[in-house]
Amino acid sequence: MAIGLDHKKLERNVSLLGVCALLAVLVGGIVEIAPLFWLDSTIEKVDGVRPYTPLELAGRKIYQREGCYVCHSQMIRPFRDEVERYGHYSLAAESMYDRPFQWGSKRTGPDLARVGGRYSDEWHRDHMRDPRAVVPESVMPAYPFLAEKELNAGDMTKDLGTLAALGVPYSKAAIDAANDDLKAQADPNADATELVKRYPKAQARDYDGDPAKVTELDALVAYLQMLGTLVDFKAVEAQEQAK
Ligand code: HEC
Repeated sequence: MAIGLDHKKLERNVSLLGVCALLAVLVGGIVEIAPLFWLDSTIEKVDGVRPYTPLELAGRKIYQREGCYVCHSQMIRPFRDEVERYGHYSLAAESMYDRPFQWGSKRTGPDLARVGGRYSDEWHRDHMRDPRAVVPESVMPAYPFLAEKELNAGDMTKDLGTLAALGVPYSKAAIDAANDDLKAQADPNADATELVKRYPKAQARDYDGDPAKVTELDALVAYLQMLGTLVDFKAVEAQEQAK
């Protein structure tokens, strides 16, 4: 039989088999994966998810710089033990503006996807300065220098502009105001109405206990305190039950 013969040839010729296997995997892969980049339904829209404020974005950069993701994930899996400990499992939409995403692959410390609002700013300050001061058995490194280092965020209009070019919906006004918005969020005396209009649920205050200057700790705590706070999960759960 012709087909039988061809198959024999294919199985005995390593290069030919390799090329054919590669082709099969490539075609299958493209057919499965490529549509996800264009389908609108890949990420279900969820109310409340908004792009990061400039200060949160600066804090997120410190989070990346310090390698916090090495020990902390930001993705709650849909298992009972995780949901009971951390809250509602993570939705794809919650990290739709994360570039790069911070899902992580290892948990030496707890998941941080919903850590926002779980502790006071003061707790975070103490914890960053010396984790053992608040959690005696902690193996987390101390980051005392964050409270001393003034935040050198650079020109945030460039950060927002770049993200906008990648599809994050920052308006022209938001980009132009990025540097002012950053200051407004960390200054307890600034007027934050414009900021909150642009970024609903943005929390403006002095995060690091030192109103005189904006430090890296201000930015990092601002980021930590907003994680998981944007979506109203009571509404999401009601929707899920109604289905
Ligand atoms: C070597 C691993 C490691 C690194 C790196 C690390 N952490 Fe942790 N983290 C832990 C561990 C372990 C805990 C649990 C004990 C504790 O609370 O200190 C923890 C706890 C936390 C908590 C409290 C979470 C909760 O729900 O109780 C926060 C917030 C946190 N880390 C933030 C950070 C940030 C921000 C960074 C980077 C600047 C960082 N961590 C880097 C290991 C790490």
